[in-house]
Amino acid sequence: MKLFSGSSNPQLTEKISKVIQIPVSLVDIHTFPDGEKRVRIQDSVVGEHAVIVQSTVPPVDSNYMELFFIVDGLKRSGAETVTAVVPYLGYQRQDHVFRDGEAVSLEVVVKTLERVGVDTIILCDLHSIKIPSVFSIPVTHISALPVFAEKIKQEKWDDKNTILISPDMGGIRRIKILSELLDNMPFAAIEKDRDLQNGWVTAENLGEGKITNQKRAIIVDDMISSGKTIIAASDVLFKKGIEEIFVFATHAIFSEKAPRLLQNANLKKVFVSDTVFVPEDKHFAKLEILSIAAIIAKELESK
Ligand code: R5P
Repeated sequence: MKLFSGSSNPQLTEKISKVIQIPVSLVDIHTFPDGEKRVRIQDSVVGEHAVIVQSTVPPVDSNYMELFFIVDGLKRSGAETVTAVVPYLGYQRQDHVFRDGEAVSLEVVVKTLERVGVDTIILCDLHSIKIPSVFSIPVTHISALPVFAEKIKQEKWDDKNTILISPDMGGIRRIKILSELLDNMPFAAIEKDRDLQNGWVTAENLGEGKITNQKRAIIVDDMISSGKTIIAASDVLFKKGIEEIFVFATHAIFSEKAPRLLQNANLKKVFVSDTVFVPEDKHFAKLEILSIAAIIAKELESK
């Protein structure tokens, strides 16, 4: 097996490399002044099983193009098979037509990934469980939830005082899985509404489950982008008598002013995974990053 990294998250690739004890192979990625990229595979991959790790985070289009070029380079250089590890899959939220006339962006990128030669793909905490069915190639869907459950147990938050919260009804499946990992911890989901024009999030009530006498809430989501979902959910929870809130989210997209918004919010701590590399300037005191490298490594070793 040969392991390659795109430029979006080499830190995660290095961690995976350490666990599977396979060095990261060389690929030259050059960006021209006009923004175009040239990719050149510098290790021999003839007859090899090549693995490329690339999160398609912002700049999303540029990171996708880089991934397409690396896969093309690997195939042209004789790789027998290519597995793409895409810990964060960009465009996954546009998985159907929400309003007349919209493109289904996810289908476009999936078709391109398959066309350039990806044979199998490993994805993490997808927004919807229907996404794997958009692919024709085999998809392995892994999750950061076991890592989150471990942390919650270590911190001893798995007691009667705690309730798991999904900040929207779409996250109910995720929260049920985490609840099972935590001896059926009670859970509830908030009814959230997002204005598709301006992105504003409103949340007023619980759509499923109820808070009985718990004082601690753990909000669990697949991603934090603007941070507005988390803030709206925490407002609902405080109104319902919750006293301390922790957040666990797999993908730290952290666009706009999310880090400042989260740091200043009435939250105790925000845990994210390393599917997305968080640069220093987006770190904040309440942030803690947990690694999913071991989970990805286990999948690769089983292939
Ligand atoms: C939405 O359905 C997702 O599960 C996340 O809750 C959402 O994408 C988070 O985005 P933001 O941080 O911008 O509210």
